[in-house]
Amino acid sequence: MASKDQSCHLIIVIGAGPAGLAVVNNLSKAGHRVVVLNRDIKFGGLAEYGIFPNKHRLRGGLKKGYWDILNRENVDYFGNVTVGKHKDIMISDLNEIGASALVFATGAQGTKTIGVEGDNAMGVYHAKDVVYHYNLLPGFSQRPFDLGQRVAIIGIGDVMVDIAHWLIRYKKVKEVTAIARRGPAERKYNPKEIRAVCDNIDQEDLTQEFSRIRPRLEEVGQNADHLLSGMVEEMTKCEPAGSETKLRFRFLFSPRRVLTDPKNRVRGLELEDTKLEPKGEDFSAVGLKTYREFACDSVIFAVGDRVDETLGLPFKNGSFLTNPNRTQNEPDDALFQAYDNQTGRILEGVFLAGWARKASEGLVGVAKRDGDWCSEILNRFLAARAPLEPAGIEERLQKLRRLSTLPPILAFAEGLQNSFVEVIELI
Ligand SMILES: Cc1cc2nc3c(=O)[nH]c(=O)nc-3n(C[C@H](O)[C@H](O)[C@H](O)COP(=O)(O)OP(=O)(O)OC[C@H]3O[C@@H](n4cnc5c(N)ncnc54)[C@H](O)[C@@H]3O)c2cc1C
Ligand SMILES: NC(=O)c1ccc[n+]([C@@H]2O[C@H](COP(=O)([O-])OP(=O)(O)OC[C@H]3O[C@@H](n4cnc5c(N)ncnc54)[C@H](OP(=O)(O)O)[C@@H]3O)[C@@H](O)[C@H]2O)c1
Repeated sequence: MASKDQSCHLIIVIGAGPAGLAVVNNLSKAGHRVVVLNRDIKFGGLAEYGIFPNKHRLRGGLKKGYWDILNRENVDYFGNVTVGKHKDIMISDLNEIGASALVFATGAQGTKTIGVEGDNAMGVYHAKDVVYHYNLLPGFSQRPFDLGQRVAIIGIGDVMVDIAHWLIRYKKVKEVTAIARRGPAERKYNPKEIRAVCDNIDQEDLTQEFSRIRPRLEEVGQNADHLLSGMVEEMTKCEPAGSETKLRFRFLFSPRRVLTDPKNRVRGLELEDTKLEPKGEDFSAVGLKTYREFACDSVIFAVGDRVDETLGLPFKNGSFLTNPNRTQNEPDDALFQAYDNQTGRILEGVFLAGWARKASEGLVGVAKRDGDWCSEILNRFLAARAPLEPAGIEERLQKLRRLSTLPPILAFAEGLQNSFVEVIELI
């Protein structure tokens, strides 16, 4: 680790989730000065506010590692700082500071909607908000979630399982139904994760559901019996049910409309039957234009997220743009370089990592690896540039501290570690 009186580069990392902190780890180890700006007071991103609260070992292990990284002498951490248009700091402010590089590891903070009529009704929620709520992210923890007793979750990935877990074990609602536009073979949740809720699966209903969809599975050569036994085999080692909640699945249904009562409250969903159609190695869902009503009191969309375009980076179709002109390097620099399609140029010295680069993709390990790859590319980029003298770094840090828009800083690791700990303990 280099000391503060050596010349080195200054890197500003925006976002202190697993991807951003992997970059902080590598770049600080390489001897550079690293400043972290994070929207949340606490670091960790979804490792703090996403991973299910009862995963104490995973969360504790990650937190300890992150704490060690942020405690390094050449790392400064600012919490409670949001970067973006009309936020605490704009990207143009950061550009003026003159850091050697900016790394955006802000995750996927935008909400993905699937564009169905009625999706603004009372009782419609997006998974991220629910997850932030039960993980007590300030601003979400006190928000009311009026769910009723019959909750429909759209999507059949791990986030669906986590939310079902919360509804079953903590909210103890009567029914939770996971609705998938494709079939059981295309379920995305990890078999190990289903153990948290499998005691509550309504087995009789599951068998009936397979009978209902059997012809459409067989039409594309899928064996309904094998699929059912595969799903049931995963339902071993179930954690004991903490409630009477029934967890059910509905396959081959695509939501078309949220049905509401005269007070604009959810009373159900209009679902379109779908069939599977081969698409390369996979299958896509094709609507059959036959519809039915499904009664429920609330709907939670757990269909993945997109990046937050209000950050101010060039954006298209739910993603920030990266350089389309591939390089020969491994890992490929282009994939991590922010790109402006208006000018046809990369944003020099601006990089993306983790879910900011590929929204809602993979586990903590995947985000960390993405941060590691981004660091390799950054190291290549920095090696070709003259480092900054210590005085130049201090001058730039002063500029950052003087930014008039900077909110009260709740966490600035250098020299203020004790107050940081106190702030964290108060939350
Ligand atoms: C509900 C849920 C449960 C999960 N459970 C698991 C699990 O059990 N095991 C597992 O391995 N993986 C799990 N994952 C996946 C894992 O959390 C992600 O892979 C990983 O957190 C992505 O890391 P990231 O750093 O790219 O983004 P994030 O973790 O989202 O971090 C982004 C960071 O950027 C900050 N930020 C955002 N916008 C701004 C801004 N404008 N300005 C400044 N800072 C900003 C945020 O405060 C946050 O700290 C889960 C994901 C979800 C959604
Ligand atoms: N405990 C854990 O380890 C944990 C917990 C949470 C999240 N994670 C990770 O975080 C990542 C994101 O998870 P996720 O559950 O948000 O995403 P995901 O795994 O991609 O699942 C999203 C679900 O939404 C469905 N969906 C997407 N668009 C839809 C649309 N327009 N209409 C209807 N359904 C639609 C998908 O169906 P199709 O398949 O048909 O697209 C899929 O069933 C994953 O890598 C996951 O493993 C891990």
